[in-house]
Amino acid sequence: MMPRKIAILLSGRGSNFLAIHDAIARGDLNAGICCVVSNVPDAAGLAKARELGLNAVSLPSRGIERTGYDRLLLATLRPFSPTLVCLAGFMRILSPEFLREYAGRVMNIHPALLPSFPGLHAQRQALQYGVKVSGCTVHLVDEGVDTGPILLQRAVEVFEGDTEETLSARILKQEHDLYWRAIAMVLDRLDRNPSPAGDTAPR
Ligand code: GRF
Repeated sequence: MMPRKIAILLSGRGSNFLAIHDAIARGDLNAGICCVVSNVPDAAGLAKARELGLNAVSLPSRGIERTGYDRLLLATLRPFSPTLVCLAGFMRILSPEFLREYAGRVMNIHPALLPSFPGLHAQRQALQYGVKVSGCTVHLVDEGVDTGPILLQRAVEVFEGDTEETLSARILKQEHDLYWRAIAMVLDRLDRNPSPAGDTAPR
């Protein structure tokens, strides 16, 4: 069996990171979090990781261009030898060099049903468009913005009178139940086929 080590990258609140941590603690997800890295030093999620006694690394990105930063990120992750890199509210695009090193092993969660509403403020975009159903998507990360192969999705109804806050909260609840399932799926796939480069999920 492949090692099941997850590196979490985050920039903020960290509720998706905590949901993954909880799924592991409950025994629903057979994996371990090897490190939590934040590009924002005072991110709440990073403080939480420290409190939990996890390897928590602050790697500020301010003022560093992408290629240079991603090399630092690669060097930071290497000693932990993660099997998967899970973005959980990590507000950066990853360089081709980074993605090459973790080909097929970088995942992200997005608060809309991709390919609808990629990028920032997905819930606001959905409300402004007037869709009646939105949701969340876990996907493999490629060089685009929220464009990689889709792993799992969950639909969430948009209610009359929803605000960005109420819709975001309803979607977030589903995010927390979806991300760990997608991680389990990818880890199981890696067990069956440990070198996934070029073997991406069907679109
Ligand atoms: C979530 O809505 C996630 O879908 C998006 O960023 C937000 C992160 O929230 N990528 P949290 O930091 O996990 O609470």
